[in-house]
Amino acid sequence: MARRIAVFGAGYIGLVTGACLAELGHTVVVRDIAEDKVAALRAGRVPIYEPGLAELIAAHAERLTFTLDADEATAEAEVVYVCVDTPPTASGDADLSRVWAVVDSAKRAAHLKAFVVKSTVPVGTGARIRAVLDTAGLAQVGYGSNPEFTAEGRAVRDFMRPDRIVIGAFDEATAALVAEIHEGVDGPVITMDVPSAEMVKLTSNAFLATKISFANEIANICETTGADVTKVLGAVGADHRLGKHFLHAGIGWGGSCFPKDAVALKALASNGGYHPQILTDVIEVNNHQRRRAVTRLKDEIGPLTGKTVAVLGMTFKPGTDDMREAPSTVIVDRLLSEGASVVCWDPMARTPAHAPWTAIRRAESVEEALSGAHAAMVVTEWPQLEAVDWRLAAESMAAAVLFDGRNVLEPERMAECGYTYISVGRATVRP
Ligand code: UDX
Repeated sequence: MARRIAVFGAGYIGLVTGACLAELGHTVVVRDIAEDKVAALRAGRVPIYEPGLAELIAAHAERLTFTLDADEATAEAEVVYVCVDTPPTASGDADLSRVWAVVDSAKRAAHLKAFVVKSTVPVGTGARIRAVLDTAGLAQVGYGSNPEFTAEGRAVRDFMRPDRIVIGAFDEATAALVAEIHEGVDGPVITMDVPSAEMVKLTSNAFLATKISFANEIANICETTGADVTKVLGAVGADHRLGKHFLHAGIGWGGSCFPKDAVALKALASNGGYHPQILTDVIEVNNHQRRRAVTRLKDEIGPLTGKTVAVLGMTFKPGTDDMREAPSTVIVDRLLSEGASVVCWDPMARTPAHAPWTAIRRAESVEEALSGAHAAMVVTEWPQLEAVDWRLAAESMAAAVLFDGRNVLEPERMAECGYTYISVGRATVRP
C-alpha cells in the first residue's frame, strides 16, 4: 500500500531513502534545512553523486518533492523517516540535536502512524524517543528503528537489493508497517527489539573496520617477513568462515560511517563502564596506518623538504566525491608538515575549502600530477589508474618512486616501467 512519507535530511541517506521510497510507489516529501540544497533539488539538480540516484529523482518528480518547511513535510505524513546526520561530539558521543528537532516536528503531524529512525544513533535512543512521544500524548504513534547498511557508490542498489532489512520496534503493528513500506525490496526482513536493531548497525560497521585493521596489521607484519599480504589474505579469505570481503590491506578506512561509528560504539561502551579493547586498537591501527604511509616513503627517498609529491586520489574510496575522513587528508597534512610540495589529482573529489586543501595544486590528469614529481602516492584506487602509460609517466618524473597505498598496481610491471615501487604488505621492487 502506498504511504505518504516525510523524510528528514537530504544527505546521502535521506536522498537515497526518499528516491527509493518513491520508486516503491510512496508519496515522499524530503525536508532539509539547507536552502541551497533544497533549491538545487527543486530545480532538478542532485547535489551529490550516487549512481542511479539522479535518474530515480527525475523519474518520480510527481511524487517526490523537496521542502525547507518541516510542517509542510509532516502535514500529510503517515510516516516520518529520520535520515539526519548524527556527528560525533568532542567526547565521541553522537550529537542527536537534529534527531530531537525532528521529534519536535513530528509532534505536530496530524496523520502520523510511525516515527522511523534510519540515522545511526546510540543504543537507548529509541526508548528515549518513545518516552517523549508518550509524554506528548502520541502513544498511538509507533516507533521504528530501521538502520541502513548502504555503501556509498552503490547506495541505490543496496537499498533496493539489501542483504537484509533490519526493523526494530516496540510493537508488532509498527514492525509490520515498516516491513510493508519495503514491499518490492528484494531482501529478507529481520525483526527485533529496538535496542538490538540500534546495535546491529554499529556492530556491522565496527566488524568491517576490524577486518580491515586486521588486514593492515598482517600487511605490516608481512613487510618484515618477506611474505606477500595479497597472497596471504587471498588464501585466508577463501575460508568461508572468514570471507574475502574487507580484507584488502592499504592505508586504512575512512568515509562517513566507519570512523564515526567506531568512535560512537567506543563511547557507548565507555559510558556503560566497559573498556572496549579490540575497538580501541582497531581505531589506533587505522590512525597509524595513514601516518605510516608517509614514513615508508621517507624511508625510501629521505627528507621531503623541497620535494614534490603527487597524491593520486583524494576521496575516501573510488566512485564517490566524498572527502569525509579521507585518508588523503592525513597524508597530505603530513607531507606538507614534512616540507614537501603536494600536487593532487582526483577525478571527482569536491576540493574542501579548508586546510590543507586550500594550499595545494590540483592537477587535471594523473600524467600532469606526475610530471616533475619526486615521488607519487596512490591514495584512492580509481580505475583511471589502470589506463595510465606508466612507462611514459616515469620518464616525466624527477624521480620514479611510487608508493601504492591500495596495492592496485602490479609490482613486476611497475619495476619494468622504471619505478621503485613500494606497496603495503609486499616487498619493495626496483627497476
Ligand atoms: C560503509 C559500509 O560498507 C556500509 O554498510 C555502511 O552503511 C556505511 O559504511 P562506505 O563508508 O560507503 O560504507 O564505504 P566502504 O566501501 O564500506 O569502505 C569504507 C572504507 O574502508 C574505505 O575507506 C575503503 O577504502 C576502506 N576499505 C574497504 C579498505 O581499506 N579495505 C577493504 O578491504 C575494504
